[in-house]
Amino acid sequence: MSKNFYISTPIYYPSANPHMGHAYSSIIADFFARFKRIDGYDVCFLTGTDEHGLKIQRAAEKKGEDPQSFCNEISQTFRNLTEVLNLSNTDFIRTTEERHKKTVQYLWSQLEKNGDIYLSKYSGWYSVSDEAFYNTDEIEEKNGKKVSISSGSSVEWIEEESYFFKLSKWQDKLLKHYEENKDFILPKSRKNEVISFVKSGLKDLSISRRTFSWGIKVPNNSDHVIYVWLDALTNYISALNYVETNSKSYKKFWPASVHLIGKDILRFHAVYWPAFLMAANIPLPLRVYGHGWILSGDEKMSKSKGNILDPLEIIKTYGLDPLRYYLIKEVSFGNDGNISKEKLENCINSDLANNFGNLCQRVTAFAQKNCSAKVPKIIKFNKEDLEMLNKFTNNLENIRNEIDKQNVNFYIDFIVNALFEANKYFNDQEPWKKKEDLDRLNTIVYTSLEMIRKISFMLYPIIPQTINKVLKIFNLDSNAISLESIASHDKLRSGEPINKIDILFKKIEKNND
Ligand code: MSP
Repeated sequence: MSKNFYISTPIYYPSANPHMGHAYSSIIADFFARFKRIDGYDVCFLTGTDEHGLKIQRAAEKKGEDPQSFCNEISQTFRNLTEVLNLSNTDFIRTTEERHKKTVQYLWSQLEKNGDIYLSKYSGWYSVSDEAFYNTDEIEEKNGKKVSISSGSSVEWIEEESYFFKLSKWQDKLLKHYEENKDFILPKSRKNEVISFVKSGLKDLSISRRTFSWGIKVPNNSDHVIYVWLDALTNYISALNYVETNSKSYKKFWPASVHLIGKDILRFHAVYWPAFLMAANIPLPLRVYGHGWILSGDEKMSKSKGNILDPLEIIKTYGLDPLRYYLIKEVSFGNDGNISKEKLENCINSDLANNFGNLCQRVTAFAQKNCSAKVPKIIKFNKEDLEMLNKFTNNLENIRNEIDKQNVNFYIDFIVNALFEANKYFNDQEPWKKKEDLDRLNTIVYTSLEMIRKISFMLYPIIPQTINKVLKIFNLDSNAISLESIASHDKLRSGEPINKIDILFKKIEKNND
């Protein structure tokens, strides 16, 4: 089986600075990328910015800037965010780059050559904010304005000459693909939405515009620019140099393992993108996962709603790893979730400071004092020790399988349980009362240290900076982390030094007024 893994985030519109919703998609993708790496995979992790279209053109005009300089500036803030969030992305693509433009034009010419494009006239509703066409039954009137029922954004009527993609022709093949590849779209609830949309009848899709110019030109007809979604979706293959014959990265990483996206852009990824690919005889990605939204109160956090929580501010106050942990644990993956400072503080205090930080501090301090600051020698594990340690051994395959279904909730629950049990084990075994039975004392300390190692390895994809600090206990660095090794409990060498570490997470004082 190939040990290559390709995960992408959506490419973000640089129409405004990044917010928590964007940070969320990126952090989750980073979690999967890091997990697969510690499981021995070669990982391609792509993110970037989606820079064409009327939405960006208008945002630039509003600021009195030309679209290219406007994009340069804001795209850079997204690139900076990859550093701030400690993402391990292997590439950052911008749709204004040459490598991308030539791939889009090449894909267009393939679709044209295969008879899937024709010229006609479009008349219908368009939302610039969503860069999406809507049918009349997808529109409602609100406060005297026509808006999309699904997104709430306002729509305008457009009528212009346009090239069309023969989407209707692919309806049955798409349905067959969903049927034969049960996990192509996850979570399941979203898959059903897509299937009923496709079953309700696909109309051909307008894929060019001629009333504005900020986009990639249609080959052989420069009056038209290519529809921004056809342009944007192509990023997933342009980053792999698809147009180059014998592109190594394309061969190695396509089809993508997972396109991770927000649920609002599922139709583009689970209907249009596979149809374009089928029409161009390109294999389809293996999975499209539509995660939920970060809400502020009951509403989606978004710039147009003005209810943004700035990830930079949160990170400045609380640190990056607490935010990463919070988003992965408290937003049940696949569903919408709320973020509030109060919940974040509770999470830092209970899970990170009390459960994890405390376990590391207590066990290492005890080992310092009672085991000459060295990994003790074990004589024999008893039933309780093995029960703790074997949880990991027995669940290794399970963990892999669940992550292959993007079951982040299973993963984090497993860790939280393990932490709870490791703390309980140390308390119940009372090594401080075993000073007369050094063999037993040593075994308890060894078992607890092994638990810290195993839990830390599993926490690494979630809170990598913190785990780098924890590994100093054992004189290890992140290169030593391998998922496989959570299944063994003979990884710590007796006699190796055990080092002191600083407090990992400071508890947040709550004032209760
Ligand atoms: N440019 C398109 C994606 C093209 S991918 C080929 C786009 N950009 S976006 O900037 O508007 O949104 C990017 C991603 O951020 C989407 O997956 C969207 O779901 C996600 N989020 C935006 N706001 C969000 C929340 N409040 N919560 C979680 N994710 C949300 O769409």
